[in-house]
Amino acid sequence: MNRLVKNAIIALYSLILMALSTGFAFGQHKLPELPYKYNALEPYIDSTTMLIHHTGHHQAYVNNLNKALEQYPQYHSWSVDELLLKLNSLPEEIQTAVRNNGGGHYNHTLFWEIMGPAGSSTMSPALESAIIQYFGSIDRFKEEFEKAAVGRFGSGWVWLLKKENGTLYIESTPNQDNMLMPYYKLEGTPILALDVWEHAYYLKYQSKRGGYVKAFWNVVNWNKVAELGGY
Ligand SMILES: [Fe+2]
Repeated sequence: MNRLVKNAIIALYSLILMALSTGFAFGQHKLPELPYKYNALEPYIDSTTMLIHHTGHHQAYVNNLNKALEQYPQYHSWSVDELLLKLNSLPEEIQTAVRNNGGGHYNHTLFWEIMGPAGSSTMSPALESAIIQYFGSIDRFKEEFEKAAVGRFGSGWVWLLKKENGTLYIESTPNQDNMLMPYYKLEGTPILALDVWEHAYYLKYQSKRGGYVKAFWNVVNWNKVAELGGY
């Protein structure tokens, strides 16, 4: 497709999404801005995917979370973390909506932060030695992470988590679930996250999830990963 036509379509799509999202932008949860431009992760993650992923998918999670909570002002002061940690205490009729959309909002917010333009960060020596301590080598760590990403059946996420005692481990969750939810006993804080939903890669990689997962390493913001892990 002609580049000008493609850019015009993207701009138009963006305007429509912005108009729609403004129209529905009520409630306390907001779509965070990306810390870089939509084309910043090219060629590993294309700008069209980033635009649709952020203004389409993530915005929809935010809108649907706000909608679920609309009739429940007692939860309007709760952060998304608190909502997910105490999912079981919420009224039963909104638990699924908060699980899916609150999870989607939390997961994507972290995902945008732990990525950045290729070549803009390097792994700190402290983070590198922690990964080697728990996985044997950086290559071994990447292999295990990729295996979890490719092995997740259907849609979900892969995490690198750090326990309070410093242990690093890899886990995967289905759909928009994450370690905050009471259905899981995943100890620790996520310091790296990868979205393996098809909407994250299908335009560029089609059914080749493995290609997307390998490309992801080029756009990891290792400075942010180190910061989240306290390295
Ligand atoms: Fe996503």
